[in-house]
Amino acid sequence: MGNSNFTRRQFLATASTGTLAAVVAGTVPAYAKAGRKASQCAILGGKPVRAKSFTRWPIWDKSAEGPVLEVLRSGKWFRGSGTVVSQFEEKYAALLGAKRCVAVMNGTNALATALHCLDVGVGDEVIVSPYTFIATYNVVLNATALPVFADTDPETFLINPDTIESKINENTRAILPVHIFGLPCNMTRINAIAKQRNLKVIEDACQAWLAEFGGKKCGTLGDLGCFSFQESKHLPAGEGGAITGNDEALMDQVMAFHNCGRVKGKTGYTMIGHNRRMTEYQAAILLNQMQRLEADTARRVENANYLTSKIKDIPGIVPHKLCEGATKAAYHLYPLRYKSEQFNGLPRNRFLAALSAEGIPCSSVYGPQYKDGLMEAALTSKNFKRAFPKERLDRYRDELHYPGNEQLCQEAVCFTQNLLLGPKSDMDDIANAIQKIYENRDALLKAKV
Ligand SMILES: Cc1ncc(COP(=O)(O)O)c(C=O)c1O
Repeated sequence: MGNSNFTRRQFLATASTGTLAAVVAGTVPAYAKAGRKASQCAILGGKPVRAKSFTRWPIWDKSAEGPVLEVLRSGKWFRGSGTVVSQFEEKYAALLGAKRCVAVMNGTNALATALHCLDVGVGDEVIVSPYTFIATYNVVLNATALPVFADTDPETFLINPDTIESKINENTRAILPVHIFGLPCNMTRINAIAKQRNLKVIEDACQAWLAEFGGKKCGTLGDLGCFSFQESKHLPAGEGGAITGNDEALMDQVMAFHNCGRVKGKTGYTMIGHNRRMTEYQAAILLNQMQRLEADTARRVENANYLTSKIKDIPGIVPHKLCEGATKAAYHLYPLRYKSEQFNGLPRNRFLAALSAEGIPCSSVYGPQYKDGLMEAALTSKNFKRAFPKERLDRYRDELHYPGNEQLCQEAVCFTQNLLLGPKSDMDDIANAIQKIYENRDALLKAKV
């Protein structure tokens, strides 16, 4: 998670518990009234804006227990003997408006399966968004293919379509845009480039359930879409994933590959496959969780818009922008950019610490992970040396600089989705805490905490 030692998942796990604020008693002060002196920041010994926890995640009730017990008692625990995974696939495809869905064990394997079935492999190159969870890079590297980064547009947090074309060469096979935080990428631009250059498009929609571009759901706009149902996700089952698509023949191939190579209509194993099947238990939980997804999404969107309206005029706080054509964001995280200059030079890590102390869990999320040694380990591996000429790997190393992405990695501040699930007054707390820190910026700078 950026520069901190905390991983994103640790952050997600603690965000719903109220962290520091949980130990501090007291009510929420009515804050930010014009003309009065700023109250002292909690990190400097003042009273925090918020003492309560935010909404916890995941959320479930008794209705989830019956379907899981039913699977247990049926003795039909894998999709080959039960019907629950197939039911989930049908319902999820219908919810998204996709022709087909294949459920798999997690989002990472959804992406790996999509790459494989679109014939991306050893020696190929894939255009990838650098601002993402590490799994997006890993699946490309695990295929002994090169993840070639296009730059990020710091305003949208998304791949900048203007930077894609210059990265394409004769070995490029696919574009892998990431709808990060559930913010839809500009799929019109990406699909147009792909069509012109004869490339496949795999949407990493692992954070984008029900997000929409041009009125259509993310995950249905490219050749294949990939989803994650890990515990922190809006449709959670602990672990889980899915691949969605509209091409029947391709989806038949996905189904066969994920199921050890069992091809529809044939007996035995007639293609090389893998076992990436979802269990019946996972599907039982997902069918239950799916009942709340639309209402939760609507609430996140409403709260995100309200929060934006509350913070947009605070100097140094720049809310994210949706890209042209985006019609709905899913807000797996609510992102903004922090401009330290307007806080008189208060560094972002101290802003984050002060905001956490006010009872608002927050994080910087992703750093420029391609600089962490991960890429070098891949490039110097036996497989990569065999698959790519030395000159290509040297050039690749030289090109690992992305100014838009690096700017964003220094400025991003995010709140996890569960913070958006409460009442509007929760958004007021977030906005008031940011305003309080702004007003106390000089005191915070002097205090050196
Ligand atoms: C953008 C993105 N891609 C891929 C994944 C991988 O999904 P999973 O954790 O289910 O393997 C995640 C999960 O956090 C993700 O956020």
